[in-house]
Amino acid sequence: MITGVCVCPICKGPLISANQEFRCDACSQEYPIVDGIPDFFLSQPEDEEDQHWRENLVWLDPQMAEARDTIYSLSVREMKGMSFAMQQLGPLTFSGCRILEVGTGTGHFARWMAEVSASQTEIYALDFSWPMFEYAKLHTADQPGVVLLRANSTGKLPFRNESFDFVFLRLAPLGEHRIDNVQASLQLLKPGGWLFKAGWDPRTRGESWTEAVLKAGYECAETHEWLYPRTKTRAEYAASRVEAERAIAFGAPIGNPPEEPVSLVSMVCETLRIARKPG
Ligand SMILES: C[S@@+](CC[C@H](N)C(=O)[O-])C[C@H]1O[C@@H](n2cnc3c(N)ncnc32)[C@H](O)[C@@H]1O
Repeated sequence: MITGVCVCPICKGPLISANQEFRCDACSQEYPIVDGIPDFFLSQPEDEEDQHWRENLVWLDPQMAEARDTIYSLSVREMKGMSFAMQQLGPLTFSGCRILEVGTGTGHFARWMAEVSASQTEIYALDFSWPMFEYAKLHTADQPGVVLLRANSTGKLPFRNESFDFVFLRLAPLGEHRIDNVQASLQLLKPGGWLFKAGWDPRTRGESWTEAVLKAGYECAETHEWLYPRTKTRAEYAASRVEAERAIAFGAPIGNPPEEPVSLVSMVCETLRIARKPG
C-alpha cells in the first residue's frame, strides 16, 4: 500500500519495491527498510545551529522514549480532549481513507485511531526516532492499517501532495524551512480533507488560530479546550521526572515539570483544533 502514497522525497519520482528497500524509479535513490520500517530520512537541517532541531534530539534518547511510553500507557486513554478527537475522527473515516500522523512517538494515538476508524483505513505514522519506533511497533503490531515510516517532518517528505484525508498533528513539527504547519498540512490534504491539531497549549493570544487558518485557505475551523485536574499514579510521576530530567539534559523545553514536594494531582490543559480544506 505504501507505493500508492509514498514517493521519492528528493525528486517525487515513483518508488519500486525491492528486497529490503525502496528504490526511486526516476533518480535511483535507495531507501532501506529497517526492521520493517521504510527509512526516508534524508538529513538533518543544513543549519547545524538550528535550535528546534537540537531540542528535538531528546527524542532520540532511549530513556526519554521509555519514560514517554510509561506515561502514555498509563494516561492516554484518560485524556478528555483526545477522547473527543477520536469520537470526531472515527465516523469521518471510510474504507481507503488515508491518515497521516506526524510524530507518532510511541504509537499510542496511531493505535487509538486504528481502533476507531472504518476498516481498511490506512494510517501512515511518521517519526524520526528509532527508540520511539521500538514502542510504536509494540503498540501497533496487531493493527494492519498502521504503516510506520521514518522521515524528517521538517525536511523533504516522501508523500505526494493531496494524498491524505486527515493530517493528525500532536506536539510535533511539520513543514520544511519553517513553513507553517497549517500550510504544510494544506498541501498534504486532499480537497475536503481534515487537519486535527492537538496539544497542551493554552489559549493563543492575539489573532485566533481559527482566523489564521481561514486566511490560509481552509474553509472552516474550530478550536476546543479542556482544563481539568488529574491524579497521576506514582509510576507515572516517576516517569515524568525522568522525562523532565532528560529534556533538561538535552536543553529541550519542559512543559509541566513534576512539582516538589510530590503532588500527584496536576491540572491538564488540552487543546484540539480542527480545520477542513475546501472540497
Ligand atoms: C512531543 S513528541 C509527540 C508524540 C505524540 N505525537 C504525542 O502527541 O505524544 C514529538 C515526537 O515527534 C517526533 N519528531 C520530532 N521532530 C521530528 C522531525 N523533525 N521529524 C520526524 N519526527 C519528529 C519525535 O521523535 C517524537 O516522537
